[in-house]
Amino acid sequence: MQTVQDSAGLRAAIRAWRSQGRTVGLVPTMGNLHAGHFALIKLARARVDRVVASVFVNPTQFGPNEDFARYPRTLAQDQAGLAEHACDLLFAPDVATMYPYGPQQSVSIHVPQITAVLEGAHRPGHFDGVATVVCKLFNLVQPDLAVFGQKDYQQLKVIERMVRDLALPVKVLSAPTVREADGLALSSRNQYLSAEERQRAPLIHATLQQMRQLLHKGHARPIVEEAARTHLERAGFVVDYAAIRRAEDLQEPEPDERSGLVALIAARLGQTRLIDNLLLD
Ligand code: PAJ
Repeated sequence: MQTVQDSAGLRAAIRAWRSQGRTVGLVPTMGNLHAGHFALIKLARARVDRVVASVFVNPTQFGPNEDFARYPRTLAQDQAGLAEHACDLLFAPDVATMYPYGPQQSVSIHVPQITAVLEGAHRPGHFDGVATVVCKLFNLVQPDLAVFGQKDYQQLKVIERMVRDLALPVKVLSAPTVREADGLALSSRNQYLSAEERQRAPLIHATLQQMRQLLHKGHARPIVEEAARTHLERAGFVVDYAAIRRAEDLQEPEPDERSGLVALIAARLGQTRLIDNLLLD
């Protein structure tokens, strides 16, 4: 596996593949890779001739009080893991390569409506940073397809909207959430949890399953959401949201809407903020 850190090197590698008629897939990440990321590599591997992974901790998607500075950076380990999973090229730029005109460059991509709710409401500007960096990565790599995890469900929907509305020539694929045996969704942030918090963390997934059960039993959506919030708060979580939304646009469903829904939770355990979701169909 080749590793490149500058855009000229990246473009040269891609150009060489393109001249041989190879198809290219991209898996954007922030590194500190785990089995959830490798599942995306595997999916890309099955669909295209050449797989590119990017590792870039993108400053523009972190809020001023978020964990940008302490986000785990483990490039050597990521490189080994990617090579093991038959990734062809790792693009690991620094901030100056991704933002030669500074992170406050003139153009930023805002995907309206779908970013106004849930994560977008709790992390102002987050999805502008995500959409902008992903669009730049698409322009640098020019992949045939890109793979995103359902773990970050709203992010996936934001990228799909951006690609649709800007007619970007890339196919977006999604891969199911990879979980620990006890249900906790794999995340680079899980390592922030103390041993005691790690014991409690699977309650998020259990609560999502409970939301699905209660809704299927016929309970009204606001009751189910409130029960989920109370359940988590009693266990010591600080809940940002526990919501049932339309899977397509993440807006509030009508009271009689029972299909095409997703349950989403964001909650903090101590200093660590965890998110997860479950499709309800
Ligand atoms: P990161 O959190 O590193 O995640 C990279 C990709 O891995 C995302 O598509 C995410 O949904 C997926 N992923 C993470 N945990 C997963 C799990 N347990 N199961 C399946 N997929 C999982 O998401 C980002 O980085 C950034 O916002 C990025 C898109 C790279 C833009 O900076």
